[in-house]
Amino acid sequence: MLAFANFSDCLDGIVGEPPYFRCLFQANFVFTVNSFVAMKKICFLLMSLQLIHVGVKAQIKIENLLVEHLQGPIGIDIQEPRFSWQLTTEKRNTLQTAYEIRVSLNLSSLKHGSNLIWSTGKINSDSSVHVPYRGGALESGKKYFWQVRVWDETNRPSVWSEPSFWQMGLLQASDWKASWIQAGYTEDSVLRPSPVFRKPFMLHKKIRSAIAYITARGLYEAMINGQRVGDAYLTPGWTSYKNRLPYETFDVTALLRDGANVVGATLGSGWYRGYIGFSGQKNFYGKNLSLLMQIDLNYEDGSVESIVTDNTWKSSTGEIKGSEIYNGEFIDARDEKKGWALPGYNDSDWYPVTLPGPSPAKLIAAYNEPIKKQETFKPLRVFSSPKGEKLIDFGQNLVGWVIVKVKGKPGDRITISHAEVLDKSGNFYTDNLRAAKAQDTYILKGGEEEIFEPHFTFHGFQFIKVEGYPGELKPENFTAVALYSDMKKTGNFTSSNALINQLQHNIQWGQRGNFLDVPTDCPQRDERLGWTGDAQVFSRTASFNMGVNNFFAKWLGDVEADQLGNGSLPFVIPNVLGSFGGSTGWADATTIIPWNMWLAYGDRRILEHQYKSMKAWVDYMQKSSKDDLWNTGFHFGDWLFYSPADDNDGRAAVTNKYLIAQCFYAHSTQILIDAANVLGKSDDATYYGLLLKKIKEAFLKEYMTPNGALVSGTQTAYVLALGFDMLPEAFRSQAAVRLAENVKSYNNHLTTGFLGTPYLCQVLTRFGYLDLAFKLLLQDTYPSWLYPVKMGATTIWERWDGIKPDSTFETPSMNSYNHYSYGAIGDWMYRVVAGIDTYADGPGYKHVQIMPHMGGGLTMAGAELQTYYGKLSSAWKIENNKVFLDVEIPANVTGTVFIPDAGAGLVSESGNQLTTNQAIQSGISKDGYLEVKLGSGVYHFATVTK
Ligand code: BGC
Repeated sequence: MLAFANFSDCLDGIVGEPPYFRCLFQANFVFTVNSFVAMKKICFLLMSLQLIHVGVKAQIKIENLLVEHLQGPIGIDIQEPRFSWQLTTEKRNTLQTAYEIRVSLNLSSLKHGSNLIWSTGKINSDSSVHVPYRGGALESGKKYFWQVRVWDETNRPSVWSEPSFWQMGLLQASDWKASWIQAGYTEDSVLRPSPVFRKPFMLHKKIRSAIAYITARGLYEAMINGQRVGDAYLTPGWTSYKNRLPYETFDVTALLRDGANVVGATLGSGWYRGYIGFSGQKNFYGKNLSLLMQIDLNYEDGSVESIVTDNTWKSSTGEIKGSEIYNGEFIDARDEKKGWALPGYNDSDWYPVTLPGPSPAKLIAAYNEPIKKQETFKPLRVFSSPKGEKLIDFGQNLVGWVIVKVKGKPGDRITISHAEVLDKSGNFYTDNLRAAKAQDTYILKGGEEEIFEPHFTFHGFQFIKVEGYPGELKPENFTAVALYSDMKKTGNFTSSNALINQLQHNIQWGQRGNFLDVPTDCPQRDERLGWTGDAQVFSRTASFNMGVNNFFAKWLGDVEADQLGNGSLPFVIPNVLGSFGGSTGWADATTIIPWNMWLAYGDRRILEHQYKSMKAWVDYMQKSSKDDLWNTGFHFGDWLFYSPADDNDGRAAVTNKYLIAQCFYAHSTQILIDAANVLGKSDDATYYGLLLKKIKEAFLKEYMTPNGALVSGTQTAYVLALGFDMLPEAFRSQAAVRLAENVKSYNNHLTTGFLGTPYLCQVLTRFGYLDLAFKLLLQDTYPSWLYPVKMGATTIWERWDGIKPDSTFETPSMNSYNHYSYGAIGDWMYRVVAGIDTYADGPGYKHVQIMPHMGGGLTMAGAELQTYYGKLSSAWKIENNKVFLDVEIPANVTGTVFIPDAGAGLVSESGNQLTTNQAIQSGISKDGYLEVKLGSGVYHFATVTK
């Protein structure tokens, strides 16, 4: 029954990896211990019947089929969509050694393997993620079915997966038969009510499928026969509208009926022409709203027809009298055009439409997850403030809106105002929203119960103030609904410390509130812009909490589109702030985010697409430098660093901005080199390798004294210099000492701003100051991560002291209570405390590292992450002087696991002592860890603490 591998076979592993896998194949459970003492690898077999499922031979199942990271997507305009699938099995050490994919236009022939349009045959490969379609040209609007089977490490084939599908969008400009339409009436130029468009049509034949392609210059909400098309909101989202405009694709077959039908849509000003940016500008992309819609009908008899926007449509206005993202929506229900989206409605007083002509922007199929309604919240309390305001607290700072149920008289007017916090006395506080009114107004038509809900705005709030509500405010009549991009929730971190768990909650809600189609800085004031710096510092953390692959791929497309001609990058993307740009740490979003996505998802296409932009940015810095020193231009610097109010002795942590710039110049160049290596651009790798050497030399010459002190003695200066390897090896440990001393001199407080904070605990850990990193994490007085938590925060704040200890506020002109940047500590919690990480040689968690770090008095911590391969997790706890570590590695993944080790022979797995081998008894471990190489499976380790 036992699966013994030959011990000497395992020793072959000294020279390379393949024999390790050989061991792995021969036994179902193999450890390779990396001896740093003897520098040789030794395999251990766990001689346990419990663990070895020899003979059980569980069949591998193939599940979770994705195309372009989406389940059954419709509206793909990529000619080589990529397939991903997961292997699921109870069996340990499962690897894929080959796969076969087949694709057909017909579901039943797919199952029979006939009439295939593409079949790969058996391909020897361990790739189960991002496998590109390489068959013949895919056609517009066609639906393709596919399935896959794999062979495992014993060359056993799986059964075919259940079929899945994807559907193509409109691939050629000529596939669009629709014309843009615009309202034909003269618009009220003050309120600018939402235009409504409608078109009745007849259907006489049986429909096989009806696919709608819709976009707008503005925001749209489409209706067919009185029903809303799809459940996406604020479509088509926000892109660099002048360059690329997404359209959504919906299967509307079920909405159509035989005989009379009506299709229509309502538009909102949105980002297109509403107020945007903080200088009161509007009409940034254009003055007029317009709609483009096409429904392609496929009849059962094989014939086709399209219902398209054209000059036969009609336009009018309805109950939405005005809507603005910052200011809110105004609905007068008395002006509702009842039944306008149903057949039989009399539209004789509606206006014809005009045809404004095509959009200069390229139409692209939307490929990121649309904004959808997510969590809902009932009032936690309904109360009156000291000023007598009628308030409702939803208990969570969220982004979305409130749905109100009400019964009243015609003309009753309700106003709902939104706020994130109450002031010191408990009154409604909106000064920090600046010019954003964040107010929804409803005028009742009266009679029956009415339900109000905005369409084309969103608010960041925890509290609402209700004015004009007829009757008592009953909790059941108010529901707050969160809206954000419908990304999969992929990760969580948890620990024995309730405050840290609240911090994790706040980080996740910071992400939910600011991932509305674009990564924004804040969701509540007159800003809500795609600040590049904020996005880059948070991007890696974001990739743990949610599936942000497509979200960032889409945004990076806008980065590329809005990059300035000289390679500099605007401060915000989509760019609505003019041609300013090039700030260090902000513009580096173009290098850092693609690289983070490569690590988190193994998405090579993001690197391929962004490479030009990455290079242009590095070249810009090079051109702006003199003697390899980049010390010109405007920079935000270490934004919002610690600076005490009455700074008599210079406690403020001011870091020289050009020192920071030189560090990020090096960091981006390093990333460019790494990307060049991945993409096989060896000439670039060599060229930029030489440049990087010079950048670092210039840094030392300008910013480091011969003794190793940096000209700015701040935490951020040392963190960046160490984190980006700016210092020669010999100078690093003394720099780390200086950093540690600095932290201690502030009584274990951080002083870093946006740019230093993300790397602070990483650097401390790397240089042996794990204890200090934990002290910073657990610090709960200002400035620290837990200070806002203790002050009742439910999201991450923009400033370390958004609310001061005496309950007064930071300056209202810049004081958001929902800013994700400082949430970048999440990355350290996942990667260091729980210890789950990917190796760059197996990005996207194909080759994982599990290396938990204990400390800070935590008795338990753990994280899980849904990777493209399946669930990866690591959780440790300390109980009765024993450390327990549970690890799960998905199939087709290999792991290098560092088990906290008390020393010789005290590690067990699922109750089986790993002491049978001499090697363990001689204590082959390093830095308190026993390093083992594992295949997939669930493992339960136990060790004894020292
Ligand atoms: C934003 C930031 C942004 C910063 C740049 C602020 O107004 O909210 O998060 O990065 O400006 O200085």
